[in-house]
Amino acid sequence: MGRALKATIDCSALESNLKRVREIVLNSKILAMVKANGYGHGIVNVAKALKTADAFGVACIEEACELRRAGVSQRIVLMEGFFNCDEELPEIIRLNLEPVIHHAGHIEALKQETGHATLPIWIKINTGMHRLGFPVEEINDIWRGLSTIPFIKVEGFLTHFAKADEIEDPYTELQIDQFFQAVLHLPGAKSLANSAAILAWHTSHADWVRPGIMLYGVSPFTGRYGLEEGLQPVMTLRSELIAIQSLKKGQAVGYGGTYMCPSDTRIGVVAVGYGDGYPRLAPTGTPLLLNGKRVPLVGRVSMDMVTVDLSTQPDARVGDPIQLWGPGLPVEAVANAIGTTAYELLTGLSTRVPFEVIYQKDEKRPLTSEQESLY
Ligand SMILES: Cc1ncc(COP(=O)(O)O)c(C=O)c1O
Repeated sequence: MGRALKATIDCSALESNLKRVREIVLNSKILAMVKANGYGHGIVNVAKALKTADAFGVACIEEACELRRAGVSQRIVLMEGFFNCDEELPEIIRLNLEPVIHHAGHIEALKQETGHATLPIWIKINTGMHRLGFPVEEINDIWRGLSTIPFIKVEGFLTHFAKADEIEDPYTELQIDQFFQAVLHLPGAKSLANSAAILAWHTSHADWVRPGIMLYGVSPFTGRYGLEEGLQPVMTLRSELIAIQSLKKGQAVGYGGTYMCPSDTRIGVVAVGYGDGYPRLAPTGTPLLLNGKRVPLVGRVSMDMVTVDLSTQPDARVGDPIQLWGPGLPVEAVANAIGTTAYELLTGLSTRVPFEVIYQKDEKRPLTSEQESLY
């Protein structure tokens, strides 16, 4: 009913991707990153599908509340700690959350607190990302200071990589060395690896890995696809052709008339636009899948529509199915054409887009001919 645009979330693909992580890391526990609304897939959908994950990582207490309200009982780590101790701490303790402590203000705030039930915390170490965390030289003192606060239980230590997706760059090895030197004599769990490190830097796996994008079926490496890493795409964004225009050579399409037909051309109009989160800056040539075959976007993306060149599909009709990304057209390929990342496309869908959650029983789905030509 209504507009055909819809995002379909395949929970069996999420499960299969989690299984893939387990195959790779063997003994590490899995802190599944579900922040930013489950990378745009719906935080509750994702957490329910990843029920065998050991813990979930979120960016803020609001995301954690949503999980707890939905009955998610696994451990939840607040990856950026708390923003206002007085307001958040009672709720953090009530909801049994585990904040990451990453700056001196956090420690001061915790020292002022008294009479609380146990609070499990993680200490963030800055080994070269230079975004959050304490310097490696201070970790012994920080650990000692936090351990003496009566209601605090230090669960472990974590760091984050700046360039784990650049597999030729030795920077990640330096970060790994720095981290292990900093925690050499300290008790507690150790966690370093994001998706790229899970796949490429096996010495970083340690006690807990923190996969994000790979759970959603996407390769963290530029120029590679999730399927090449043994992952299944989770989100399919679908729409349909809602109009067809037969334009003459020299006629222009859409706002600003930025695309002029080089010859007589049938132009298809698709129901998706920047009001749905499809990037306005997607250039002419960005691929869409029409009837299972690629067609190029032409002209400017508008709020509710985009236009495509139908030259390769003379039989295309209004109502024909479009895939913006999904199993037939990797989101990585679309992101690459737009000059962005799959992270941004997936997290960027607007609330106007309806979601549907499915569970495909046949986990190892055979490739379609379109997929085979891609991979
Ligand atoms: C601290 C931390 N760990 C792990 C991840 C997961 O990264 P990825 O999605 O590249 O696997 C993120 C994501 O930004 C993060 O901020």
